Amino acid sequence: MVSLSKIKSVDFYRKIPRDLTEASLLGAWLSVVAAVSMILLFGMELKNYLTVSTSTSIVVDNSSDGDFLRIDFNISFPALSCEFASVDVSDVLGTNRLNITKTLRKFTIDPDLRRTGAEYNSELVPQVIQHGEEVDDDAVPALPGAVSLNSDSFDRIAHEYPILVVNFFAPWCYWSTRLKPSWEKTAKIIRERYNPETDGRIILGKVDCTEDFELCKRHHIQGYPSIRIFRKGSDLREDHGQHEHESYYGDRDTKALVKAMEELVSPLPLGNQKLALAPLTGGCRIEGYVRVKKIPGNLIISARSGAHSFDSSHMNMSHVISHLSFGKTISPQVLSDVKRLIPYIGRSHDKLNGRSFINHRDLDANVTIEHYLQVVKTEVVTRIYSRESSLLEDYEYTAHSSLSQSVDVPVAKFHFELSPMQVTLQTA
Ligand SMILES: *[C@@H]1O[C@H](CO)[C@@H](O)[C@H](O)[C@H]1NC(C)=O
Ligand SMILES: *[C@@H]1O[C@H](CO)[C@@H](O)[C@H](O)[C@H]1NC(C)=O
Ligand SMILES: *[C@@H]1O[C@H](CO)[C@@H](O)[C@H](O)[C@H]1NC(C)=O
Ligand SMILES: *[C@@H]1O[C@H](CO)[C@@H](O)[C@H](O)[C@H]1NC(C)=O
Ligand SMILES: *[C@@H]1O[C@H](CO)[C@@H](O)[C@H](O)[C@H]1NC(C)=O
Repeated sequence: MVSLSKIKSVDFYRKIPRDLTEASLLGAWLSVVAAVSMILLFGMELKNYLTVSTSTSIVVDNSSDGDFLRIDFNISFPALSCEFASVDVSDVLGTNRLNITKTLRKFTIDPDLRRTGAEYNSELVPQVIQHGEEVDDDAVPALPGAVSLNSDSFDRIAHEYPILVVNFFAPWCYWSTRLKPSWEKTAKIIRERYNPETDGRIILGKVDCTEDFELCKRHHIQGYPSIRIFRKGSDLREDHGQHEHESYYGDRDTKALVKAMEELVSPLPLGNQKLALAPLTGGCRIEGYVRVKKIPGNLIISARSGAHSFDSSHMNMSHVISHLSFGKTISPQVLSDVKRLIPYIGRSHDKLNGRSFINHRDLDANVTIEHYLQVVKTEVVTRIYSRESSLLEDYEYTAHSSLSQSVDVPVAKFHFELSPMQVTLQTA
């Protein structure tokens, strides 16, 4: 059995009896310094342990969200009618999708961008419009046709007759030319049935917009020909408290026109669904989204119609962007959470938000507004117990915009390009 004193004899740190020790000032200093540095080191280690470290890497985009990218937007055009506004998407591989309507909503707006009416519904407007054959027949009364109106005579005539129906046209326009014979014929027939002198309930007029552009501008005429109906000097019609122009959108042959005019005159309430409402103020807000392939392409908003012509030199593609973003919408909650970790995330997610692009160049024709957008994907991933999970996928973009005069028809164009690289932010 080993005795206790034997074990004690292996002690490397033999104790000196307390009486023999002496506290020195130097020793006290050293102790204090040592204690402070220990606390400091511990604190720093703890802080380092608690802070989230992020590392950034740039890798080739290998997103799992497929080949398609969603573009969300909300853009207001104060001088483009919903009737004509068309949204087209094209890309470098030759895919063209014209006049997208399914995922979009259109609202008529006034120059202050306030909504003036219900949602614009293009179904009110017939798609295929019938035109009269252009042969003259003998059944036409030998009477003067439609009255030529200009700024001076317009208001007088409009107040003289309870109903004035005006064809705003441009002589160079194909559709105007096709309407012309039917319009004249209708004017004569109506003149015969409702003699302006004795009956005086209705009269048909015409305005040449190349001669009196100001008059057409005042009535927000954007496409030719436009047939507008003026009642007691005003073509405003109350619709659920909203004021709108009254327009004729029906077939353009003599029979249909005469029938429509007679329905206007007959005291019965209008049972004619062909009298759709055209926006009074001529502005349009387009909201919604489109899906595009992840390759460079264009989102183009322009005026288009199957039965009207446009005077491209007077088209005004000014717009205000309320929202334009790429990719999935990020909930504000998630965004603010991630922003606490990485403050600069999301800063360019909706870069054009609130910007307006107004064409003030009164003298220039064919002003196109173009935006060049370069899109970069940023993915925030986090590692929890060696399992990686994606916190956020954010598409940010840079934007360069220009107003330029071109020889083409004016459009609002968003050209986008996607970076093949993505930024991955890894937080741990
Ligand atoms: C994308 O690439 C990264 C790094 O190469 C990899 O960790 C990740 O799993 C990939 N994601 C997908 C969806 O393939
Ligand atoms: C689009 O923008 C307008 C004007 O900023 C706003 O009033 C409207 O609510 C927006 N629409 C949507 C769907 O966010
Ligand atoms: C676009 O398509 C809609 C529905 O298919 C149609 O009502 C509208 O007239 C078209 N617009 C143009 C400008 O072609
Ligand atoms: C285009 O429309 C905007 C908004 O209504 C207006 O401020 C601008 O003066 C117009 N530009 C031209 C050239 O008419
Ligand atoms: C405007 O565009 C039209 C249609 O492309 C073209 O005929 C006309 O020459 C252009 N005008 C100007 C001033 O560039």
